[in-house]
Amino acid sequence: MVVIRGATTIPKDSPEEIKKAVEELLEQIESCNHLIKDEFVSMVFSSTSDIHSYYPAKAAREAGYVACSLFSAMEPDIEGGLPLCIRVMIFVEKNISPRHIYLRGAKILRKDLTRICNIAIDGPAGSGKSTVAKRLAADLGILHLDTGAMYRACALKALEAGIDMNDERAIVDLMRDVSIDVEFKGGVQRTLLDGEDVSDKIRMPEVSMAASAVSKHPSVRMHLAEKQRAIANKMSCVLDGRDIGTFVLPDADFKFYLTATPEVRAHRRFEELRRKGIEVDFEKLKEEIVARDEQDMNREIAPLKLAKDATLVDTSEMTIDEVVAFLKAKMLQEEM
Ligand code: DC
Repeated sequence: MVVIRGATTIPKDSPEEIKKAVEELLEQIESCNHLIKDEFVSMVFSSTSDIHSYYPAKAAREAGYVACSLFSAMEPDIEGGLPLCIRVMIFVEKNISPRHIYLRGAKILRKDLTRICNIAIDGPAGSGKSTVAKRLAADLGILHLDTGAMYRACALKALEAGIDMNDERAIVDLMRDVSIDVEFKGGVQRTLLDGEDVSDKIRMPEVSMAASAVSKHPSVRMHLAEKQRAIANKMSCVLDGRDIGTFVLPDADFKFYLTATPEVRAHRRFEELRRKGIEVDFEKLKEEIVARDEQDMNREIAPLKLAKDATLVDTSEMTIDEVVAFLKAKMLQEEM
């Protein structure tokens, strides 16, 4: 059994504000701790004495936490205490190192428990960054944000609309009416395009090249980079992409650049697609990877390149376990 702490504040005492704040707090606790609702055993809420319009526990029940025991209490009125504050203590049935979540005005309460840490992993297609980022995030108990998925979602929309990827105007118009969002369910990213879960569709090989093409447009990059920064500013994450260490988060706590020979990278992608039942021609895939490198490294805005302060890791001859272990050792060394 593990205990997770959290707190948030509301702008005014109303049932709507309480429901919204409780839902947001629990959603972040769930995603940052890679939990599913069934793993919540019990939640004890307390709220300051200036809150009387709704029970936070009831809001939690309504947010879908129906299998755990819930309880609300009122805190004593302490002078100088944070007003309109809701606190929670959650017991979960999972062996994890807990991430405590303090939101809104409550961010100031426990800085010691909540330091946000962002790890940037950049590199070309097939360098292993996505698999490594996923593993590292799970080991550290933080989120993995796959930024490539956002470019892929944008490309999918453009493909479906039959738009030429070089037509920036048409892409910008399209982006204006489209919503690209990510959601974390049990710590796993789902990518939503206009509310539809397109996490699997965006992995189709034709979307890869289109994503690379669409990503060269400055307006697309600015829009998506802003979304990525907003997520990274709210919670600790491992972000994988092409420009995280150079452009999205130049002040990330740790930066890595993974690479491997085109032969090895094409081989990895080939196997990955084959496992998903997608048959492709190896030579064609290799050519495509090289063409994509060329495109990603030579675009004008935020091209794929090694950040000055990033650690370069050639993964050609390394297993995933070895890369993850290397990154962790390097981070430990830098922390000291
Ligand atoms: O990592 P991936 O293969 O899913 O990325 C698909 C394309 O998206 C990639 O070729 C270039 C673009 N991309 C980008 O420009 N910047 C990022 N941070 C992530 C991806």
